[in-house]
Amino acid sequence: MEKFFKLLLIGLLFQLKLLLVDGLNTNRSNFNRRSIVDEMAMDMLKSCYMDFKTIVIHSDSNQAIINYVAKLETSALVLISNSSMHNIGVAQHLHMPVFIMTPNSRMELHDILMSFKSSPFWNIMAPFLILDKSNRECANARNILKSAWEMNVVKSFFLCVNSKNVPIIYTYNPYTNRAPQPWTTVKTTKKRTDGWTMYSKSNHEGNICDTLNFDRTEYLDGSIIRAVIDIPEEHEWIPGKDYDENLIEKMFVGEKLVVPPMKSALNVTIIFNVDEKGFDMREKPTGIYRRLSNRSSDIAICFRTTFSGHLSAFLTKDEYRKNVETLEDLRDSRYDD
Ligand SMILES: *[C@@H]1O[C@H](CO)[C@@H](O)[C@H](O)[C@H]1NC(C)=O
Ligand SMILES: *[C@@H]1O[C@H](CO)[C@@H](O)[C@H](O)[C@H]1NC(C)=O
Ligand SMILES: *[C@@H]1O[C@H](CO)[C@@H](O)[C@H](O)[C@H]1NC(C)=O
Ligand SMILES: *[C@@H]1O[C@H](CO)[C@@H](O)[C@H](O)[C@H]1NC(C)=O
Repeated sequence: MEKFFKLLLIGLLFQLKLLLVDGLNTNRSNFNRRSIVDEMAMDMLKSCYMDFKTIVIHSDSNQAIINYVAKLETSALVLISNSSMHNIGVAQHLHMPVFIMTPNSRMELHDILMSFKSSPFWNIMAPFLILDKSNRECANARNILKSAWEMNVVKSFFLCVNSKNVPIIYTYNPYTNRAPQPWTTVKTTKKRTDGWTMYSKSNHEGNICDTLNFDRTEYLDGSIIRAVIDIPEEHEWIPGKDYDENLIEKMFVGEKLVVPPMKSALNVTIIFNVDEKGFDMREKPTGIYRRLSNRSSDIAICFRTTFSGHLSAFLTKDEYRKNVETLEDLRDSRYDD
């Protein structure tokens, strides 16, 4: 009997030890995960974004990465918190920045991106490094990256450590299922209206920089873009209704001429909405301008007499922004509602 209790006691002690060791290991591996993610980000900054003069970090990030950037001699650091901004060094918003943030959840990411957006540094073509803070072994990747795309951020990366302790980078191509090796497809949405594809690779695969910055907009493969136009008053139109390319017939002569070549040059499918010409008022844009500023349209196609007949075309893609006097205005965060 005594022997039995002894064995039981030893058994219990052993289990207690396992529990303790498990607890310790969990805590240690959580700690390691965060610092591995930080190291990945520092590596990317050092190897791929060395000539980026401005690095914008959210102040809720780990101190380690903030300290690292503060010490970089080549770049200026901008520390943004929920309500304030510290410009350390001589950051200029003319330089393409790198954005770094460490959100715990989708909501937090949204809040952080909003605070970045209301700074003068916001640029949807910049690289966004999103560092996993959740310790959920990359399970958040898809949600977080979807949220980033909802804010029109074209090039963002989610850095995390998976359940096998391998550092992983996730990214997406919001338009088509195309990415160079060694990115591998994790998830693709085949819906015609949403060509979003998520990719991953381990941190050690391939030459890290070459493959990070592939041009997501190089081939649009007929992806859908939403255009807003105004049409002559004699035609009836319904606000908010989606029109297909048959609408071209009803357009003003200028738009009618320019839409088909633009469509084939970009290789896109266009869904049209119709709205009033509206006004590009700073605080409260109306009509076409409002649709652009609230992101419900990617592009506006219109002739404006005030531009002495110049065609103005706006698109989320930088390369196609031409002849537009009000572009900088559109990027202005005050335009968004
Ligand atoms: C692990 O960390 C949690 C808090 O994160 C703490 O409550 C717990 O006591 C720690 N466990 C050990 C074994 O240190
Ligand atoms: C920013 O807001 C979040 C909640 O939205 C809060 O958890 C966090 O502590 C805030 N950070 C700072 C630096 O105030
Ligand atoms: C345009 O997109 C289609 C898919 O919709 C593709 O088959 C075709 O190769 C693309 N054309 C060019 C020139 O890229
Ligand atoms: C954007 O503005 C248009 C035109 O005023 C409106 O119909 C639409 O609902 C708005 N969309 C969003 C997402 O706010």
